[in-house]
Amino acid sequence: MEPFARDYNIEKHDLTNAGTIASLTKRELKKRGLTRDFIKKVTIGIYEAEINVVIHSYGGIAAISITDDSIEVTFTDKGPGINSIDDAMMAGFSTASSLAIENGFGAGMGLPNIKAVSDKMVLTSSKEGTRLYLKFDISSDNYES
Ligand SMILES: Nc1ncnc2c1ncn2[C@@H]1O[C@H](COP(=O)(O)OP(=O)(O)OP(=O)(O)O)[C@@H](O)[C@H]1O
Ligand SMILES: [Mg+2]
Repeated sequence: MEPFARDYNIEKHDLTNAGTIASLTKRELKKRGLTRDFIKKVTIGIYEAEINVVIHSYGGIAAISITDDSIEVTFTDKGPGINSIDDAMMAGFSTASSLAIENGFGAGMGLPNIKAVSDKMVLTSSKEGTRLYLKFDISSDNYES
């Protein structure tokens, strides 16, 4: 199929629209005939990354590109950055605000889950912003027969 490429804005603290990018990706992957299990895996990764930008950053963008072979997404935000990536990657580590916790986030499981579901994950961060690159490989097994 034709490649799909989009850029999306992610507003800080906008929990109403959080999950939009994951939903749109899910729709596009369904159109492409990918299996439910594969779509679920990818959607979880994108959802967790999207929520992190909403609840932990000053806002940013997501650039997504889908081909027959892979899904690549890069999340870039405007800071304040992650103090220690080693700490952030640990299951259970969270600095979520009380508002985020009230909304059901803050278990400290997002990044470990993203790592588990993606085929490639590159996380870099400074005070100026955080960048998270994710790649999900698509094989012929991932298409509905
Ligand atoms: N884009 C980001 N900007 C700043 N800090 C971040 C960002 N993404 C993650 N972090 C930091 O990494 C920590 C761990 O993130 P992770 O997604 O694993 O857990 P969480 O978001 O706190 O909780 P959960 O994802 O389980 O709801 C966060 O609490 C936060 O300190
Ligand atoms: Mg998270």
